[in-house]
Amino acid sequence: MSARLRTELWIKIKRCLETTKLPESLNTALRSLNLRLDNPTGEFLFSLPVKTKDYDIRNAAENLVGIVKPDDFFSGIAIRREKHSENLLFFLNRERCIKDIVESEPHSVGITDEDYSSHKKILVEYSSPNIAKPFHVGHLRSTILGNYIANINDYLCNDVKRINYLGDWGTQFGFIQLGIDSLNISDEQMRQDPIRILYKAYVHANKLGETDPSISETARKIFNELESGVGGELEKWETFRRYTVDELTKTYKRLGINFHEYNWESNYKAKDISEIISRMESQEILKTDREGRRVIALSEERSIPIMKSDGSTLYITRDIAAAVDRFDKYKFDNMYYVVDNAQTDHFVTLSQILDKMGFPWSNKIKHIKFGRIRGMSTRKGSAIFLKDIMDETQVVMKEKQIKSPNTKVELDCGSETTDILGISAIIINDLKQRRLRDYVFDWDKALDVKGDTGVKLQYVHCRLTSLEENSGAKLPEKCDPSVLNEPIIGQLVLEIGKFDEAILRSHQEFEPCILVNYLFSLSHTINKGLKILRVKGEPTDIGSQRLLVFHAARNILAQGMKLLGLQPLNKM
Ligand code: ARG
Repeated sequence: MSARLRTELWIKIKRCLETTKLPESLNTALRSLNLRLDNPTGEFLFSLPVKTKDYDIRNAAENLVGIVKPDDFFSGIAIRREKHSENLLFFLNRERCIKDIVESEPHSVGITDEDYSSHKKILVEYSSPNIAKPFHVGHLRSTILGNYIANINDYLCNDVKRINYLGDWGTQFGFIQLGIDSLNISDEQMRQDPIRILYKAYVHANKLGETDPSISETARKIFNELESGVGGELEKWETFRRYTVDELTKTYKRLGINFHEYNWESNYKAKDISEIISRMESQEILKTDREGRRVIALSEERSIPIMKSDGSTLYITRDIAAAVDRFDKYKFDNMYYVVDNAQTDHFVTLSQILDKMGFPWSNKIKHIKFGRIRGMSTRKGSAIFLKDIMDETQVVMKEKQIKSPNTKVELDCGSETTDILGISAIIINDLKQRRLRDYVFDWDKALDVKGDTGVKLQYVHCRLTSLEENSGAKLPEKCDPSVLNEPIIGQLVLEIGKFDEAILRSHQEFEPCILVNYLFSLSHTINKGLKILRVKGEPTDIGSQRLLVFHAARNILAQGMKLLGLQPLNKM
């Protein structure tokens, strides 16, 4: 695929330039070679602008044209003025290119370009809902996006830890405890439906608080007791948390999401973080403010509270402790927090404090932020929990399947296919947006089989599977490019080859939409290919060679879908 071809080209150029040292600018530039087809000859080529804002390789390029000799891989080199820029072009041998791309395995080792896969230790924290509060669409987006970031790092051979950091701590938990007592909720009731019951208790206590001002005071006291470990309530909390995780895990499973670790804010309560506080104290960065809170001064005007006057912790305090704990445990090269835009200030503050505390790794943490989804609720207007959104998706999807003449599966109740299709639609609808943009959710658009949707990617995948099962042609072991002469084959092979470019760019920019758009473009070319190229009824060698090209396309489509969090279907 393109990354391998690119490496091969790069090695060749390096060899040609052995005597002259490879100029740094050229070295950088060669990382961004793009595979494309020449117009109108249809030759494969790598193209590179001679000059961009980051580099200028005019001299080196002119030199290269003189010394790089064609061989069986690489058929020529030229500098050519094209529409927008002047480009250095490396023409590749068509047959060699097709063979290489069609025969390569997409899922064996990932990209072997050593520049990208450096076996880094990567922590990705995502989803991170709060217990007893709605799992809102921001958490959904974090879940989908975080899963993708973890997947792509896995694919690039990094060592990835997936962490879900659940909010189970803070004054609101005093309210919840109060609500549970006041509603007389039994352990059995809690076990049956923990997420809803905890929420109900929270809402109930808040209502009480509206008319009775002493409620907040009591809630604060209860929480303070919890935090300092007085009273026997802590154990009960642990049970509620276990129920909640059991239920969340079921829903995550439907979404195809898993975690290596569930972390809790309550792991970092006052008595667990004394070391951190001592460190701040010995560094003399902790002061007491007029209200009796312990604060860190980040500048003359900006002080951040770390401990309340009653000794309880704050959200930021627990994040400081969690980051230190994770670094001690994993020595990560990078840690990503996949959390919505609204918490930008929080994460800026977090890294400033870690820096102030003298942790050399404070620059290794990164907030992967994203915009809001608007308008995502069930049609009754009531989606507050992830499970509701998923159930609604299934209902809407099923209605569409019933109406569609292309439906080939049995639509029994709770059909797995329907669930997978609906979830694919939700995921792609989200990941096709630029990460930082807010977007408006629309059920019809998201689930449309004709639009650029997850349903369409599934549909194209099903078509390719069906071709392999029903064309009568047999998949050959080797690619024979001599019978693959049609221009559409060049286009399809090019699309397949560009997978690596899409992956790398998407990874560098933390933008799944780059991969999603690539898959739409691949699907479009596959559909075009299916229209033009017959497999069934063609002479054996031609039919089976064409099938091999479609097979390679299907592998890539499936690989891309899996990275995005989709489970490719064979029939729908
Ligand atoms: N539970 C938080 C919320 O729902 C998000 C947690 C984000 N991660 C973190 N390390 N602070 O707002």
